[in-house]
Amino acid sequence: MDINFTRRRFLETSAALLGVSLVGCGEKAPEGPTSRQNPDGTIALAGLKTLSNGTAQPFTFPDGEAGLIFVTAAGESGAVSAKCTHAGCVVEWNAPNNPKIPLRCPCHESLFALDGKVLSGPATAPLKRYAVTLSGAEAQLRAL
Ligand code: FES
Repeated sequence: MDINFTRRRFLETSAALLGVSLVGCGEKAPEGPTSRQNPDGTIALAGLKTLSNGTAQPFTFPDGEAGLIFVTAAGESGAVSAKCTHAGCVVEWNAPNNPKIPLRCPCHESLFALDGKVLSGPATAPLKRYAVTLSGAEAQLRAL
């Protein structure tokens, strides 16, 4: 028997024999789209799911901040920082519940418009906003 047969290797071998992945056993699978900062200051997203009208997808900016890319019911794309300007919670896509209040912070109920403006506090500052050029599973974001 291999003396270096570690617990990890035992799990990998067992998983391979059972045809299962070790994801969920302490390893993190990549989630959602990836992002990178371009030399010109724009942000590139890759691995997006298809966004139909009225839907959104969360992502993480290269600096670790939460973001939300969306396509409005009218077909216009955009993105915002999803970091609530009140105390930093992650703002959620609320358009399916109420198209007039598309962005909602679950922590203290701040409400935001698609252009990042505050509709209702306690937040007082707008969310950072980005122009989006969508191309299939990729997007370019430019700060507005
Ligand atoms: S952190 Fe968003 S409303 Fe307080």
